[in-house]
Amino acid sequence: MTTSGQADDPDDPDDPDAIQEVAGTVVPRIRGRLRTRLPGKVRTARGQLLVLTVYLLLTPIFLGFQAVTGGLAKMNLPTTDLLAATVGNVVLAAACYTASRLILARSRTGYILALAAAGLIAIASIYALTEVVTGTAGLTGNTAFFFTVYQGVYLMFAVAVLVNLLREVTWSRTLVREARKSTGEGLGVPLRDIRIHPGAARTEVAAPGSAEEAAAQAKRRHQEPLLAVRGLKKHFPIHGGLLRRQIGTVYAVDGVDFDVYPGEIFSLVGESGCGKTTLGRTVLQLTPPTAGKVVFDGFELADVDPDDMRPLRRRMQIIFQDPFGSLNPRMPVSDIIGEGLLAQGVTDRKTRDKRVEDSLEIVGLRRDYTRRYPHEFSGGQRQRIGIARALALGPDLVVCDEPVSALDVSIQSQVLNLLLDLRRDFNLTYLFISHNLSVVQYFSDRVGVMYLGKLVEEGAVEQLYRDPRHPYTVALLSAIPDPDPRRRKKRLVLKGDVPSPAAPPSGCRFHTRCWLYEKLGNPERCATEEPELRPLETGHRTACHFAEEVSDKAVSQVVATQSVLDTAVADPV
Ligand SMILES: Nc1ncnc2c1ncn2[C@@H]1O[C@H](COP(=O)(O)OP(=O)(O)O)[C@@H](O)[C@H]1O
Ligand code: SF4
Ligand SMILES: [Mg+2]
Repeated sequence: MTTSGQADDPDDPDDPDAIQEVAGTVVPRIRGRLRTRLPGKVRTARGQLLVLTVYLLLTPIFLGFQAVTGGLAKMNLPTTDLLAATVGNVVLAAACYTASRLILARSRTGYILALAAAGLIAIASIYALTEVVTGTAGLTGNTAFFFTVYQGVYLMFAVAVLVNLLREVTWSRTLVREARKSTGEGLGVPLRDIRIHPGAARTEVAAPGSAEEAAAQAKRRHQEPLLAVRGLKKHFPIHGGLLRRQIGTVYAVDGVDFDVYPGEIFSLVGESGCGKTTLGRTVLQLTPPTAGKVVFDGFELADVDPDDMRPLRRRMQIIFQDPFGSLNPRMPVSDIIGEGLLAQGVTDRKTRDKRVEDSLEIVGLRRDYTRRYPHEFSGGQRQRIGIARALALGPDLVVCDEPVSALDVSIQSQVLNLLLDLRRDFNLTYLFISHNLSVVQYFSDRVGVMYLGKLVEEGAVEQLYRDPRHPYTVALLSAIPDPDPRRRKKRLVLKGDVPSPAAPPSGCRFHTRCWLYEKLGNPERCATEEPELRPLETGHRTACHFAEEVSDKAVSQVVATQSVLDTAVADPV
């Protein structure tokens, strides 16, 4: 592991990389920071520098060829011009290539060298073009035309490089800090053994809520968090109009803080469209975050360079919601599962196939299913293949994005039990995303409730289900159907639709639908001041100014005043 990031002091208030303390979470210890990805314009400028390198070398190659075949003498060019064209082009080509490599290594010298080389090429080509136009060069007809095009190409690429780099001048100021960060090299860990050893004793999975499980959870909370998410934001631009200009922003995830401890199951719940999937994908850096930090096992990931991220990818995997759409129908199972292994450098076909068979076995499928295609499996079996694909790489953290929502109820429990078994066998940590509160209650250690891109409540599952303190959580929990169909449960109804994440309400985002806001006589604070996710005396965190007013009595008073029509139509989940 590279140690360059260790020099950073996370407690230094002047350090822009420092992690701010957030109430109710621990400040994660940073072992290293990975370099951020190059901005799009700098990536384009690097490509243009490489094109310039090749173009600059064409002239010396052409002149060399002419010298060998004897054509140079016929061209009757002055020796000084020939020397200038050859040496000048080779030196500038070397400068362009070196600059592009140095930029990749986040060197400020590379940035300055690129500007200098592109500037020099632009000046030289403008000079040459002026000579042609004014007639000083003595070129006419076709020769003048071809020379103009030849110099014009230089000018075009050099100006493009200059414009692209100068538009990222702010980024160039961060280069010295970037150069101190880790490159990702050496972060790889050996593939973990995932074979089932015959005869190995497998203990019972402790039932969620049992004393055994509570003790295990208390032990987990004493460790460093495996995943710490701080102020994470992901905004999507909305483009419109003829010129496809940005006309708005979807605030899909808008400032989320939470910790996940090794071996625990942290669930995210909330209505459809509240940003759960986006949060899961942003945590894994599958989509670059707009702002905020993700610390995985001590390594800070913030818009990380994809190449640097590759060694850590093996340790962070995802199971997708849709077992039908997430498997490529044209690939056999061996390739679907083997793809990730190949990307991680397992190039030997035999080793890969063996590993694919091992991972099929641990999810309860037959080892000889490798040559089959996805359409030859049932929904539940496909989801097992999705799980096998994630586990083949021996991850530590698995993001499960609604892994059972698309399955029949009978298959759901099989898959959930399989996930619990696998956690026990491989000490996995799950970030479990679901809109089903009953599943979350059965499956999780801790839960975070999301509303319009924000966490509104977070805490241990028993605590939160027993004593919810956010009016939104109260409404969600009251919507869980009663298993006894003869009992007609009175539900707390949320009025109106979920507001658009492109125009979230001011103050508390929930105030347009909040029953407590209405009950308290529409206090102004709710509409103007955004509530923070603050720790309560109960031990969990809630983002409500009036969390202390939430009680069974208050809820039953509100339920009693609801009309029959309201309770009949609404189902908040
Ligand atoms: N790539 C994207 N571009 C624009 N908007 C997106 C994109 N992905 C998700 N969104 C929007 O972000 C919001 C959150 O979506 P999502 O994370 O899928 O919610 P959930 O998983 O909770 O149902 C939605 O309003 C959705 O329309
Ligand atoms: S802050 Fe106000 S609007 Fe928001 S949940 Fe609490 S009571 Fe409701
Ligand atoms: Mg989703």
